Amino acid sequence: MNQNLVTPGIYQVGAVDWNVRSFHGYRTARGTSYNAYLILDEKITLIDTVKRPFAKELLENISAIVDPTRIDYIISNHVEPDHSGALQEVCAAAPNATVITSDPNGLKGLMLHYGKDLPYRTVKSGDSLSLGKRTLTFVQTPMLHWPDSMVTYCPEEKLLFSNDAFGQHLAASAMFDDQNPKDVVMAEAEKYYANILMPFGAQVKKALSTVSKLELSLVAPAHGLIWRSGIQDILEKYAYFADDVPENRAVVVYDSMWGSTEAMARAIAQGFADADVRVAFYDLKENHISDIVTAVLKAKYIAVGSPTLNNNMMPNVSAFLTYLTGLSPKNKKAFAFGSYGWGGQSVPQIQQALAACKFEPLLEPAKSVYVPTFEDLQALRRMVKEAIL
Ligand code: FEO
Repeated sequence: MNQNLVTPGIYQVGAVDWNVRSFHGYRTARGTSYNAYLILDEKITLIDTVKRPFAKELLENISAIVDPTRIDYIISNHVEPDHSGALQEVCAAAPNATVITSDPNGLKGLMLHYGKDLPYRTVKSGDSLSLGKRTLTFVQTPMLHWPDSMVTYCPEEKLLFSNDAFGQHLAASAMFDDQNPKDVVMAEAEKYYANILMPFGAQVKKALSTVSKLELSLVAPAHGLIWRSGIQDILEKYAYFADDVPENRAVVVYDSMWGSTEAMARAIAQGFADADVRVAFYDLKENHISDIVTAVLKAKYIAVGSPTLNNNMMPNVSAFLTYLTGLSPKNKKAFAFGSYGWGGQSVPQIQQALAACKFEPLLEPAKSVYVPTFEDLQALRRMVKEAIL
């Protein structure tokens, strides 16, 4: 059997990016893939392309199945360059193809990225395209993950080409979810949601209300594995994440210069544990912000700490807060903490950033001059516990 065969007549012709470890700042510890799908029908159709450095591989994969000059349609579900980056190369190899994109934002994006010469047709939600034996129906899913995003459904195959939605940054040699360890697949899907889709819960719910009415045998995202056995699992996960229901979990995240802020972080973690809250504990020097916000996704409590360095919080903490703010986590309680020698500006700066995130204050900001004493740390531990119980 062809390893790239999704279902008879439909092939995965994209590329696996085994080595990528940073995806515009998201740490992709397990790599990723840029999935593109080739449909052989009376009208030969390519769903999405790949990141530009993989254009040659995409064209080789297509050529192994069909002459690219025979492609009639290229569906551009999303204009972000990890999916449209090879569009010019594919259009050059497929001179008779029409690019199908969403109206108006897909077209706007394509024109701005690639100029006005692409042969295109725009579609709105509910529009259909006959390929012969099969039909494609388009559903716009704005902000999943850009304004132009759409998904493409093939009812005859019960197959949803979901682009960014339901994706995972995960490189693998076997392309279906049930051919890979389920805990790894779900963990990467969760990290992907946290880092890409967390701000867009309302839009996720809207998309789910449409997608959940479709008959689905396969959900084929543009990153990672194709959902075959776990479709219901991933739909339920998305519905759960989009509700932003906080679990009884805390994230303690900090940077420290000489150990005082770290000692406070440990006391705070103990306070949460005393209140039976599950703690995730991160030194920003040792952990990546994209892993930390994955823990934030389901947490109810966040404590962020920094000593004061040259009248400011530590740069690692500032970067974390910038990233966190952009992802708009909801339904959290938070507070700032940190040690200082003389200025002490870091703690109010952090508290201000947490307030800008619209987090409810859990505690008054906790500051410690130079080195906290054993009694200071015990008091901090008690305060955290008492704020929760
Ligand atoms: Fe995978 Fe929003 O691009």
